[in-house]
Amino acid sequence: MALKIIQNVRNLKGKNVLLRVDYNIPIKNNRPADDYKIIQSLPTIRFLRQQGAKVIVVTHLGRPKKFTKQLSTAPLARHLEKLFGQKVAHIAHIKDWRRLERKKLLDVPLVMLDNIRFYKEEENNSAAFAKQLSSLGDIFVLDGFAVSHRVAASVTGIAEHLPSYAGMLLSQEVTYLGGLLKKPARPFVVVLGGAKVETKIPLLETLLPKADYVLLGGDLANTYCASLGYSLGNSLFDRKYIGKIKKLAAHKKVVVPVDYVVGDQNGKNTYCIVTEAIKLPRNTGIYDIGPRTIQLYASYIKKAKTIMWNGAMGKFEEPVYGYGTKALACLIAAKSKGLATGIVGGGETVQAVRDLAVAKDIDWVSTGGGAMLDYLSGRRLPGLQRLY
Ligand code: 3PG
Repeated sequence: MALKIIQNVRNLKGKNVLLRVDYNIPIKNNRPADDYKIIQSLPTIRFLRQQGAKVIVVTHLGRPKKFTKQLSTAPLARHLEKLFGQKVAHIAHIKDWRRLERKKLLDVPLVMLDNIRFYKEEENNSAAFAKQLSSLGDIFVLDGFAVSHRVAASVTGIAEHLPSYAGMLLSQEVTYLGGLLKKPARPFVVVLGGAKVETKIPLLETLLPKADYVLLGGDLANTYCASLGYSLGNSLFDRKYIGKIKKLAAHKKVVVPVDYVVGDQNGKNTYCIVTEAIKLPRNTGIYDIGPRTIQLYASYIKKAKTIMWNGAMGKFEEPVYGYGTKALACLIAAKSKGLATGIVGGGETVQAVRDLAVAKDIDWVSTGGGAMLDYLSGRRLPGLQRLY
């Protein structure tokens, strides 16, 4: 079944559109530290405004339980205004949500509400709150793919009350990520790394039957080393998944590193080791894949027709541990220039491709963190349910 998309809706002129985006991004010095999610939402906002709709942008920021000045969306509204080139009125937090009134909102045709998680009713998915929110608009558009795995008043609740559609970003996410699960061009190479092993295991399990090769890095690879009984010093790994990873890594499609860069966690005293009977001192850990592994992984990426990458290969914020992640970012971007479909996702992975200015060459750089993992792990995203 196809998503109902906002581009197919006629007569948007004069309509109030509640647009749920995901602008959950770090704020530093009163400015968004990474505006990728905002940039990716612009086509939908542009479309709605060109059709003459008035737009009420709704997002959460962080995980506040009540009003917290530092988590106001005011800096996001200012940044959107700068990127979009039209006035964005920020609606300061109103303590009692029952007083959020439609007629007071839209003097300016583009407004942004303050952090929707300032109301506990948002995450409780309160029906009364969802109804009040829906009274502000005529149409609901969900464009925040990154929040579509959450059950919340402004994600799933509103859709009970208003005609609801997917925005352009959301539908592109579903097209690209869904394509990986359906009919990827082969060879299909998956690269998995990063932290949070518990979120990567279900992804590995779902993608293993679909992929031709799965290349491991980050804490997944460390956990694999732990499964071999190696002494890993202060490397990060997840004890709980040692048995599981051992079983999964025994699959012939799974490729593990053949060498690592080790050292202390601040990037000092680094050296390279091969993966045989690793025995690290207590103050030393594995923090990147090594040069032989980069070469090995490059040979798989070279022959791939589809590549999906989620999770850094090591602690790439320390320059000396950044080679694995940066090398993969460049290799995948180079292949994506017409030779393969490259799809990248996950907070730090996206940061890596953006820092290297290669994101534009990659076919799809997902805005979804947990939502992407859930979607590719075959879970249903509650936010999408009412959009079909
Ligand atoms: C994200 O950044 O992944 C989303 O905004 C979801 O945030 P949450 O995990 O706080 O619900």
